[in-house]
Formats: sequence, C-alpha cells, structure tokens
Amino acid sequence: AFEVELRRSGRVLTVGADSSVLAAVRAELPDTLYSCEQGFCGTCRQRVLEGEVDHRDELLTDQERGDSMLICVSRARGGRLVLDM
Ligand code: FES
Repeated sequence: AFEVELRRSGRVLTVGADSSVLAAVRAELPDTLYSCEQGFCGTCRQRVLEGEVDHRDELLTDQERGDSMLICVSRARGGRLVLDM
C-alpha cells in the first residue's frame, strides 16, 4: 500500500495492493474524470506535485511523465504521491 495526498483537497488516501489511485480518489472526489480505466484514453491524467510514479500506461510521453500520471493504472514507486487535486 502507499499514500496519495490530494493537496488542494487537503486529504491523504491509502491505496491498497488490490485497488487503484483512481478508485481511492473517486471515493473522496466522486466527480473525478475517467473513462477506459486501462491506461489508454488519458482522461484520468492528473498533475503530480511530488513523489516517484511507477508509470504503467503506454500512452504518456516521457515529457508528460515528468509532471503527470494516469491515475487509473499508475502507482507509487514507494513513499507518498502528491497530486494537484
Ligand atoms: Fe483512460 Fe485512465 S481512464 S487512461
């Protein structure tokens, strides 16, 4: 499990091994946009303020990975991720 901080919302969530960042975020912010849930469409892309992302999609460029992630499939490499939401 790892932690995700939603900085603008002032919340800290725990994402378990059998869950996703998207699922944890939607429990707090039900209006969060998403579509494919498989790392294809890019709808769920969010800006990352801090933390090391384990990118598991095939969509984002290296440049996009510099400051964002697809929260439906990608995870933390360890420690805490801080998202701009
Ligand atoms: Fe489509 Fe995440 S919901 S890439």
